[in-house]
Amino acid sequence: MIIAIDGPAASGKGTLARRLADHLGYALLDTGLLYRAVGMKVVRAGGDAADAEAAAEAARNLAAGELEAADLRSDAAASAASKVGAIPAVRAALLDFQRTFAAHPPGAAGGAVLDGRDIGTVVCPDADAKLFVTASIEVRAERRLKELRARGLEAIHSRVLQEMKERDSRDASRAVAPLEPAKDAFVLDTSALDPDAVFAEALAFVKARGNRR
Ligand code: DC
Repeated sequence: MIIAIDGPAASGKGTLARRLADHLGYALLDTGLLYRAVGMKVVRAGGDAADAEAAAEAARNLAAGELEAADLRSDAAASAASKVGAIPAVRAALLDFQRTFAAHPPGAAGGAVLDGRDIGTVVCPDADAKLFVTASIEVRAERRLKELRARGLEAIHSRVLQEMKERDSRDASRAVAPLEPAKDAFVLDTSALDPDAVFAEALAFVKARGNRR
């Protein structure tokens, strides 16, 4: 079974993806990490994440170990990821890895959960269950602010909100694989839901889809 979870930053999709994968015993791929690793590889080499050639080269040569880098959760990595994600050659270079993971999950798991921006629309258009997890920009900025502060980082609300707006608009307006719900996705607005409620709704949907297979 393949479960595709898409949505904007801080919508709760990462937490949901992890909980579903743990609960069902499925393999999990956070595809944002691939884009973050590519973006940081370019930036660390002194380049610009928007440089199509450098980014495509970094994507083609990405090694599994590079997904473990400590700085991939930073806002700098998020911003670099969003920039390399707008480059068609980068997306093309990462496609095979994602599709192979979905079709043949590691550890012979009975299924795979992939979370990102274009899983239900481009990477796995035939996924068994597609979820589009979203929340208002204010709620998402507030969540990101709390997360940053919990990690001991200084963060200013207006700055976090502004960066999130920029990333949303770049991810949604790009020409290739823009952030949008697949036509057959279950849209889950988490603005007023806690993680347990989100998980319960998503699991009920996934089970209903599973029963139809
Ligand atoms: O999910 P995330 O916040 O880790 O993603 C970081 C950026 O990577 C996001 O702003 C856009 C890009 N991305 C993408 O273009 N396609 C994906 N499937 C996942 C992430």
